[in-house]
Amino acid sequence: MTEDILKLRIERIKWETKDVATFYLSNVSGLPVSYKAGQFISLIFNHRHEEIRRSYSLGSSPDEALLAITVKRITNGEISRFMLAKEHPGDILKALAPAGRFTVSGFEQEKDILFFAGGTGITPIFSQIKYILKRPGKSRLTLIYSNQDANSIVFKEELNELAIKHSDRFKIIYFLSNEANRLNTERVEELTRQIVKHDFKKAEFYLCGPFPYMRMIRFALVYMGIDPGQIRRENFVLETVAVTSSTVNFPPRNIRISFKNEVHDLVVGENQSILQAALQNNVALPYSCRNGVCSTCTAKCTSGKIEMVKNDVLTDADIQEGLILTCTGHPISDDVVIAFGE
Ligand SMILES: Cc1cc2nc3c(=O)[nH]c(=O)nc-3n(C[C@H](O)[C@H](O)[C@H](O)COP(=O)(O)OP(=O)(O)OC[C@H]3O[C@@H](n4cnc5c(N)ncnc54)[C@H](O)[C@@H]3O)c2cc1C
Ligand code: FES
Repeated sequence: MTEDILKLRIERIKWETKDVATFYLSNVSGLPVSYKAGQFISLIFNHRHEEIRRSYSLGSSPDEALLAITVKRITNGEISRFMLAKEHPGDILKALAPAGRFTVSGFEQEKDILFFAGGTGITPIFSQIKYILKRPGKSRLTLIYSNQDANSIVFKEELNELAIKHSDRFKIIYFLSNEANRLNTERVEELTRQIVKHDFKKAEFYLCGPFPYMRMIRFALVYMGIDPGQIRRENFVLETVAVTSSTVNFPPRNIRISFKNEVHDLVVGENQSILQAALQNNVALPYSCRNGVCSTCTAKCTSGKIEMVKNDVLTDADIQEGLILTCTGHPISDDVVIAFGE
């Protein structure tokens, strides 16, 4: 069984800063690619006979004709450097269908939505803001956007235009660390108290940026009494250490996987993740990071028990609903059944 792979043609490349470029993509098949604002695609490369997958948030909104991803060059980064140096208009990229849980809903209601973006963390948030502002609604949006310096602000012109056009509904506050104007816990609390005009319990917080930046903001919000369920995060950076648990041992278990209208009964070997077992048995489940960060591998557990050794993406509410990550999930009972929402 093979995966559904999209073929995307690079139509145009726009340099946003000296280290960041936006790739505008069309679907070679001509069919529309359906996605929600805030989701990402996972690109698949074959370099030196090895398959490499990397996820990139869609900065385009589902209302736009072309998909767009914005890639930042990472020092020693294999794929980001390759994308910025070697890919050209006309080249074809292979990708998994859009996925991800960093999405917006309920924005028609009277509430405050605060977006905290750091650097290229603006990409999924840019998509969300454009999507919301295109629709009627009573929510008020504030973007708190941190960058190193004025030259590294991505989408500045487009964001400023949106703030002018929707001045009754959308505001931007910029932070530049080279001007000693850095966001810290006190500023997060102070700003939140100033910005939130409607019920605090209804306010929503979307965070995307470097890990320490998101941790600091989350800490400040939770400390001031915001329920963690009101805070959503998208993490771009994977830890380089392997996801294994040194203390827990997972014995082999039987599992049933329902995927693309077929049922597979497999054995998940000792300390194997569900994803590893499926791929070994040629069941091509979707995945990207294999590290509990991106959510591409999300499935629903409809029976039995699963333990995830790492989960940076599913919320408590998601877990209550039965959602699990197959890349870090191990069955801990013999009656496990998982299914994918096709
Ligand atoms: C859900 C999701 C959405 C993402 N969206 C975007 C996006 O919109 N734009 C974008 O540019 N990237 C995005 N990323 C990150 C992207 O997938 C790659 O990890 C990134 O491009 C680096 O890949 P690489 O092959 O160049 O580096 P690698 O060769 O994988 O890594 C080289 C070194 O850089 C470190 N590193 C990896 N990523 C980062 C990072 N983002 N910042 C700092 N250090 C890093 C690694 O730990 C490693 O030490 C996203 C990741 C996820 C999981
Ligand atoms: S593949 Fe990324 S969370 Fe499982």
